[in-house]
Amino acid sequence: MITSSAPTSLSLPPQVEPSIQIRNLNFHYGEGDLFKQVLFDINLEIYSGQIVILTGPSGSGKTTLLTLIGALRTIQDGSLQILGQELKGLAPKKLVQIRKNIGFIFQAHNLFYSLTARQNVMMSTDLYPNSGSVTPKNKAADILAQLGLADRVDYKPHALSGGQKQRVAIARALVNRPNLILADEPTAALDKKSGRDVVTLMQKMAREEGITILMVTHDNRILDVADRIINLVDGNLESDNIINDFSASHDGSGVDSRTFML
Ligand SMILES: Nc1ncnc2c1ncn2[C@@H]1O[C@H](COP(=O)(O)OP(=O)(O)OP(=O)(O)O)[C@@H](O)[C@H]1O
Ligand SMILES: [Mg+2]
Repeated sequence: MITSSAPTSLSLPPQVEPSIQIRNLNFHYGEGDLFKQVLFDINLEIYSGQIVILTGPSGSGKTTLLTLIGALRTIQDGSLQILGQELKGLAPKKLVQIRKNIGFIFQAHNLFYSLTARQNVMMSTDLYPNSGSVTPKNKAADILAQLGLADRVDYKPHALSGGQKQRVAIARALVNRPNLILADEPTAALDKKSGRDVVTLMQKMAREEGITILMVTHDNRILDVADRIINLVDGNLESDNIINDFSASHDGSGVDSRTFML
């Protein structure tokens, strides 16, 4: 299945801007005695419509990298562009704008316990009201149904299982059809079928709507949805494998870009 273990480069330059472009990115926590560098000279370009899986041992820097890409941490050294916008040195207000294009799915689902599943999802649709005749209420119910929660729309989190809560969090991240989805172990709490349903929906969105998905996972059961698997070890990009032949796996509608490793 995996075609190479060496960094892959393709000869033709991409025609569109990458969703994510990282150049010489370093990152550390702490200062003085507590200084600890966790990312070392990361260079990476990811184009739209692909599912990229980020793997690596515990502590290798995966979540740190994801939060930097999500404009949730300050870039210290190097360059990181999201959807054509450089994040380094960007004012907090602008960072908030950037985050509106990103759907986050984290391991801790962070649901509001006083709200129903539908109301939790609507927190997103309320934030970013959208075009069309579909009401936020229906949009929220729709996406919940797609995730197998049609009969749980009006339940509050305390009456949902761990996996169901995670699916509500996933629905909230997906409901506004963001350009980019960043997911940190999104299927960790799910059983095999729920995990598969979640990644199948993500795959559909990547394919049909050109949404870029960067997902951290240790879940071997879902590796097959990846177009590309990147491995981070001790803060270094160790390997980058193109899995699916991008042109063969896309019908060309809505997606016209490829993924490259520098
Ligand atoms: N806020 C923080 N302050 C100081 N050190 C931190 C902080 N967050 C993470 N670290 C350290 O940075 C390194 C990378 O952490 P990170 O959470 O990015 O790893 P990870 O690859 O996501 O691991 P896991 O698979 O266990 O989630 C670890 O050594 C961790 O202890
Ligand atoms: Mg992590």
